[in-house]
Amino acid sequence: MLSSTLLLTALAVPAAFAQSNLDWDAAYTKATTMLGKLTLQQKINMVTGVGWQKGPCVGNIAAISSAGFPGLCLQDGPVGVRYASGVTAFPAAIHLGATWDKDLMRAQGVAMGEEFRGKGVNIALAPVSGALGKIPQAGRNWEGYSNDPYHAGVGMTEVITGVQSVGVQACAKHYIGNEQERNRETMSSNIDDRTMHELYLWPFADAAKANVATFMCSYNKLNSSWACDNDYALNKLLKGELGFRGQVLSDWNAKTTTGGATRGLDMTMPGDNFGDNNFVWGQNLLNAVNQGSVSTSRLDDMVKRIFASWYLVGQDQNYPSVSFNSWNNNGGGDVSGNHKELARTVAGDGIILLKNVNNALPLKKPASLAIIGRDAINNPAGINSCTDRACNDGTLAMGWGSGTTNFPYLIDPLTAIRAQAQVDGTTVVTSTTDNASQGASAAQSASTAIVFINANSGEGYLTVQGNSGDRNNLDPWNNGNDLVKAVAAVNSKTIVVIHSVGPIILEQFVDLPNVIAVVWAGLPGQESGNGLVDVLYGSKAPGGKLPFTIAKSPSDYGTSIINGDDNFSEGLFIDYRRFDAQGITPRYEFGFGLSYTTFSFSNLVISYTSTTTGPISSTQNAPGGYPALYEPVATITARVTNTGGVAGSEVAQLYIGLPAGSPSTPPKQLRGFQKLKLASGASGTATFVLKRKDLAYWNTASQRWVVPTGNFNIFIGASSRDIRLQGTMGPSGSTTTTIGGSTSSTTTAQTTTRVTTTPSTTVTTTRTTTAPTTTRTTTVATTTRATTTAVITTTAAPTGGPLQSKWGQCGGVGYTGASVCSPTATCSTLNPYYAQCL
Ligand SMILES: *[C@@H]1O[C@H](CO)[C@@H](O)[C@H](O)[C@H]1NC(C)=O
Ligand SMILES: *[C@@H]1O[C@H](CO)[C@@H](O)[C@H](O)[C@H]1NC(C)=O
Ligand SMILES: *[C@@H]1O[C@H](CO)[C@@H](O)[C@H](O)[C@H]1NC(C)=O
Repeated sequence: MLSSTLLLTALAVPAAFAQSNLDWDAAYTKATTMLGKLTLQQKINMVTGVGWQKGPCVGNIAAISSAGFPGLCLQDGPVGVRYASGVTAFPAAIHLGATWDKDLMRAQGVAMGEEFRGKGVNIALAPVSGALGKIPQAGRNWEGYSNDPYHAGVGMTEVITGVQSVGVQACAKHYIGNEQERNRETMSSNIDDRTMHELYLWPFADAAKANVATFMCSYNKLNSSWACDNDYALNKLLKGELGFRGQVLSDWNAKTTTGGATRGLDMTMPGDNFGDNNFVWGQNLLNAVNQGSVSTSRLDDMVKRIFASWYLVGQDQNYPSVSFNSWNNNGGGDVSGNHKELARTVAGDGIILLKNVNNALPLKKPASLAIIGRDAINNPAGINSCTDRACNDGTLAMGWGSGTTNFPYLIDPLTAIRAQAQVDGTTVVTSTTDNASQGASAAQSASTAIVFINANSGEGYLTVQGNSGDRNNLDPWNNGNDLVKAVAAVNSKTIVVIHSVGPIILEQFVDLPNVIAVVWAGLPGQESGNGLVDVLYGSKAPGGKLPFTIAKSPSDYGTSIINGDDNFSEGLFIDYRRFDAQGITPRYEFGFGLSYTTFSFSNLVISYTSTTTGPISSTQNAPGGYPALYEPVATITARVTNTGGVAGSEVAQLYIGLPAGSPSTPPKQLRGFQKLKLASGASGTATFVLKRKDLAYWNTASQRWVVPTGNFNIFIGASSRDIRLQGTMGPSGSTTTTIGGSTSSTTTAQTTTRVTTTPSTTVTTTRTTTAPTTTRTTTVATTTRATTTAVITTTAAPTGGPLQSKWGQCGGVGYTGASVCSPTATCSTLNPYYAQCL
């Protein structure tokens, strides 16, 4: 059974997480000195990759021996060092995101950084927050942490800080608007200014704030001009508004011109067009400089940025030289250290328990187990047999494309379960195909059946089973629905384990009475089976939470792969923002996940310390944008208690709703989360420090973040819909609390009450014992200020706002997703581009 000590000691996070001492000014001083040593031709060479496969790494900048510069090695990617042996195949970013554990994110960043450094890589081409993931079918969503910008921003911050703490330059990519694989190199992403700021730019702002050394611009166009040739995106937004001081490199052969240099691009990669010796910069850029169409001062700025990024993380001091070769998969020895332990911890901690009837899990020494499905075993042809993992035969532990590594080994689920079964004396029968009738015969003979299904996606240059990067649908692959149904038809204890790049539709089997548990095992990397066994057998309680919504129908998402240009007409309303606004009931909402124990929430304390409203600005800019955006303005705490019988973890989540009268905005937006690991009976405090930007919306007219006036709604809960505590904070620092929800989700999924709250219009006193279906917990609310009373002010009743003809939705002031639009409501300001109320 569950060992609380094992869980509580968890992972020893390296102590070397020194606060960032990165100093751009000092880096620029050194860069300027270095620049002075270079000839014009050497400057051109500094900004032009040597050409595809002309060096050991996927991207290479030549050495300049006269200046003592050893050159640059750029290498993929977000799960570890690509094209190398002796490295770790880490859990994918979406799996790390599912842990909601900042310490693990930081630790994986450090560990990946150590391996890149160990191989002599200067620039690790990670992390990813573009695609953000607005389209659930999009092929590369699994390379990022979450489709919520706040969550993605935390992932970016932690991983960048970790990677750079060991001296490796991180690269925030793909900037920006590359939300699907289909037509990614020809389509235009037309994103309105507010949506750009509040969704897509948000995590990149956090990356800049974390002092990321480099950015990679993306393949797509923005408003019909290439992202890597885009003055607005690169100069105005990134280097201007976000105060980014490092260098921007192109995605591999992303379209640009010599004019791209004046529009903000600093380096072309890989230099030529994948080996054709046709260099878009190089001699062409030299000519442009000589003719004056690109100024020498701009060229100097490009070179200084590249050197400053290099000096920023100390790569001029004792940095290892490149010790591997991408093109023959060898060299450099084993740099993986003890990272397999971290890989196993993350593999287990990112697992999300979706359904668990009558404590079906953890397994308690079952007499017999049937292990069913091709996804339970390694690909018989070899774990690395497909180019860049572009096949879906055997257990799925990462997607396909450039964001992959070679597996050094892959612990498949069957191997790990067999090891435990041997200890327990459990008989194991198997059917390791996806053949439904074979699966059913195996299941018939066992007391418990575990069925493995999956869904894969990847980068669009490779097609797998007819899926050209993006998924063709949101169903499990290889007839997974039929396999589960056939097994559940004959076995009353059917457990479904899902490896997937993103949401799949579960409706064909999730409610079947014989499906007693559903385990979301994500994309767990090389330690897949071990991480799974840790959870299935209860050596740790599951603690992952969904980093996306699982819908009942694909159309519920309101976004899908587009042919031609994408106008981003859904605006701010992606994933749970849309489900909340439109009142669509998901199967499992963003932020959801069960445990083997239960948690109560109490003692909401809101301290709103800086109540200045209006546009936010500072006299000077800094990485991430105006420093005033990042100043703390409120501290909110809540008590979380483990009310169940075993140790476990809960992710306390804070969502805000803007005051009534604010521009049309999703009813809830994530603005804080904290994972608490608690022994049975123990309590902890979740502390959320809101920064000014967390309360603001982007005002396109003033081109500023603006903190609106009025009462903000504060929601704290165990998911985006399981809200347990609720309050408001408003002018003069006044705060009120109401009590929402009840005890935690129980482990009996079918009887779980997951309370969905809407902006409250009820009056509630400070102490309430709630919950019709559970009785254990009393939630208590207090306020920080003696002057506030226990009686809440009511927020305005929801009104539909005017009809937005383009979307057929209600919108505008007071918009809460009502299905009936107010005929009298009018827009205070109409956004002409999308016929959307501002
Ligand atoms: C694209 O056009 C829209 C509408 O004019 C504007 O709000 C947005 O800022 C533009 N974005 C870029 C990257 O040019
Ligand atoms: C599934 O297995 C059964 C029994 O072995 C076999 O008769 C059938 O042809 C298989 N189906 C497929 C699609 O391979
Ligand atoms: C996007 O907007 C443009 C300009 O308004 C319009 O011509 C085009 O049809 C729109 N595309 C889609 C897919 O709606």
